Amino acid sequence: MPAKYDVIIIGAGAAGLMCAATAGYRGRRVLVIDHANKAGKKILMSGGGRCNFTNLNSTPANFLSANPHFCISALKRYTPQHFLELVERHGIEHEEKAAGQLFCRESSKDILNLLLTECEWAGAEVRLKTSVTGVRETTGGYEVRTGGGVLECGSLVVACGGLSIPTLGATGFGYELARQFDLEVLPTRAGLVPFTLHPELKDQLAPLSGISCPVDVHCNSEHFREPMLVTHRGLSGPSMLQISSFWHPGDELQIDLLPGEDAKQALMHLRKDKPQSSVGHYLNNHLPKRFAQAFNDLQGWQGPLQGYRNSDIEQVGQTLNRWTIKPAGTEGYRTAEVTLGGVDTRQLSSKTMAVNDRPNLFFIGEVVDVTGHLGGHNFQWAWASGIAAGNEA
Ligand code: FDA
Repeated sequence: MPAKYDVIIIGAGAAGLMCAATAGYRGRRVLVIDHANKAGKKILMSGGGRCNFTNLNSTPANFLSANPHFCISALKRYTPQHFLELVERHGIEHEEKAAGQLFCRESSKDILNLLLTECEWAGAEVRLKTSVTGVRETTGGYEVRTGGGVLECGSLVVACGGLSIPTLGATGFGYELARQFDLEVLPTRAGLVPFTLHPELKDQLAPLSGISCPVDVHCNSEHFREPMLVTHRGLSGPSMLQISSFWHPGDELQIDLLPGEDAKQALMHLRKDKPQSSVGHYLNNHLPKRFAQAFNDLQGWQGPLQGYRNSDIEQVGQTLNRWTIKPAGTEGYRTAEVTLGGVDTRQLSSKTMAVNDRPNLFFIGEVVDVTGHLGGHNFQWAWASGIAAGNEA
């Protein structure tokens, strides 16, 4: 006889564990299955090892989805403040880095331990190194075939995450299950991911590798004013990761290297006041020194400003405030923090995450077409959607 559970959750990540504890506290017999040898591997890797576990300023405007209103209900019912209270109940030291972004002071392990402890207290079982080979609908719910035998459940929650970082256990299994039950899966692509560059520009920027500077990057009517990091592979840092979610192959990026400063006007004034000064001097005062020098060399700006015509200064100003480049691509799922697209939310209840015509089948977390900006929003979605399903499954 197959072992019977009220709820089986596939995926012991952020969303799955949150859902398991919530359903367990309701007295449901819960099993979480994961093929990985460790639960919550992405939690451990997140936030540079200190997990940016939520964002106090998170609103639905911080999420991308083909159905932008879908996330509102769950996010409203489980807010960043709720998760913060849980973190504080567990005595986890935390700190606010950038505005609203909350990180563990010590280690991401604290958040994983919190979730596993909650699962234990709620009586939810977590079974690792167990792969799911197939799922079948039965009269009373679902039959889940695993490497360790056949299981049965009344409610099935799919919390398998997206495709990003296969080495951390990511698979497309959640999408396969969705298709098996005739759900639409919207095209997926890597998000919050560094850009790669064409060989010529990559070689030109090589001397800037390792340098970070604040920029305002624009693409497809979105912009982010955050640091950019030049790497030996291309462009990264928060601004680039953020805009990558809005970028499509072939699009250009406009990068303002001096946000808040009108470079053309400033250089016109400088030429009048100090004609012997140079663009290099000006950049030294406005950009990290090594970046200023290398960027100046890259552009070939030489000689005192008195030798520059108005049109030259206009050109320099344009380059500084609107440096336009066309990335070759992105690093893809190999390093992407998230997967855009996924299970079409128009087929799910925004209150419970259940499939509209299958009230015992739920999709939560990253497998769903809801993707947050950088800065703790993706975990907030994992918590909120996990709680929504856990209260119903
Ligand atoms: P998640 O991917 O966490 O979990 C899915 C689970 O399903 C995995 O344990 C996987 O092994 C399992 N699984 C997959 N296929 C399976 C199968 N066939 N059978 C059984 N199990 C299967 N977000 C944020 O808000 N703040 C941050 O600081 C960061 N930092 C960050 C760093 C890095 C390097 C990455 C890759 C991502 C982030 N993120 C983040 C994003 C965040 O990690 C992500 O949005 C959530 O982990 C998504 O939670 P889920 O539970 O939906 O999927």
